[in-house]
Amino acid sequence: MTASRPTLIAPSILAADFARMGEEIRAVEEAGADWIHVDVMDGHFVPNITIGPGMVEAVRSVTELPLDVHLMIETPDRYVGDFVSAGATTVGVHAEACAHLHRSIQTIKETGARACVVLNPATPPTAIEAVIADVDQVLIMTVNPGFGGQKFIRSALPTVSRIRSWIREQDLDVDLQVDGGITKDTIAEAAEAGANAFVAGTAVFGADDYATAIQDLKKNAHP
Ligand code: DX5
Ligand code: ZN
Repeated sequence: MTASRPTLIAPSILAADFARMGEEIRAVEEAGADWIHVDVMDGHFVPNITIGPGMVEAVRSVTELPLDVHLMIETPDRYVGDFVSAGATTVGVHAEACAHLHRSIQTIKETGARACVVLNPATPPTAIEAVIADVDQVLIMTVNPGFGGQKFIRSALPTVSRIRSWIREQDLDVDLQVDGGITKDTIAEAAEAGANAFVAGTAVFGADDYATAIQDLKKNAHP
């Protein structure tokens, strides 16, 4: 199965060297990254705390690449404006964190940013069926969110296939993304299920050569 959208690799800066963030961003940009993925965690929705709008602003100042901001926080509506002002291109909110998901998506769209809805591996795809025509991107987690370097959860792939079939049936212009445990060994399965955008933290920033790592991911997505 191939998506009509291009294959996109989004390195997650969670796996970058925080003390050298500017250099790290420039290095993955030069190595062929399509987007920069920014993982925002609040210690409530997920058991880890990472970064906020200040880091997004800093990253924005060193790259022209789209910034794909993944909010793993409670009541995300409160912070959407701050992240967009800081330079987010896309803002992703978890369906599990939004009591009024349609409103949260409208809140993102009103800012002019691209809207992404995110599902944890165990959440059924029907949780977003009613909003799929309203978003620019769907992200299916292939790990339980909170940390980089975890093992790929294969049982999330039927959800990817299901969403891909809705996108096709409704002829939607939506990127379908996966995040977590994506490596050159797992990316083909995720692409086969229908994903066209791939977050990769450890597989890129943990590699000696970022360009080779990104090329290998792209090559293996459609072997
Ligand atoms: C997990 C984050 C992911 C993570 C991916 O909560 O949303 O974006 O950084 O890291 P890897 O690719 O190492 O699994
Ligand atoms: Zn993420």
